[in-house]
Amino acid sequence: MAKINTCVFISGKGTNLKRLIINSNKYDFPIKIKLVVCSNKNAEGLKFAKKWSIPYLIFKNNKFLSEKKILKSLRNYKINLILLAGFMKILSKRFIRSFGKSILNIHPSLLPKFKGLNTFEKVLKEREIKSGCTVHFVTEKLDEGKIILKKTFFIEKKDNISSLKKKTQNLEYNAFSEAIIKIFK
Ligand code: GRF
Repeated sequence: MAKINTCVFISGKGTNLKRLIINSNKYDFPIKIKLVVCSNKNAEGLKFAKKWSIPYLIFKNNKFLSEKKILKSLRNYKINLILLAGFMKILSKRFIRSFGKSILNIHPSLLPKFKGLNTFEKVLKEREIKSGCTVHFVTEKLDEGKIILKKTFFIEKKDNISSLKKKTQNLEYNAFSEAIIKIFK
């Protein structure tokens, strides 16, 4: 089976990256992770790229230069899909247009509700009944692209920011892979 050459962008712990690598190593999973891009050279998540010997690049502070370099590497590695898995920088419109292929993002809320940062604070403040995560295509507008799938849980009285984060992340691990299968298999 010909797999789609994929690059995963991360910034932090990389637990979504870990799950994506494990799934992509299964013979019938539609993607192969060829490259990792990370916005923080000290990010914990880089250990997963190292463990599985996946080359990685650091997205530096100079956005213009960094994006230019990354685009070049994406071409060299023949990358046809980008997955934003906890990537905390906003890609420029120019980058999205120049890449010209699919970019998927996972967001820790039920979009279109609670775009942007501090999702769990907002969910609690609005006394939501449900929360969850959304996998969607990335367009030039933040958290606005076509939704591929959402996963939901019910919020309990005792929930706080850290329990919401944990519950959301547990859903995210399956959501990203299911979205990839839905689109590419
Ligand atoms: C995830 O919860 C994702 O929704 C958010 O950042 C978190 C990344 O976690 N955008 P990790 O780095 O994959 O552990």
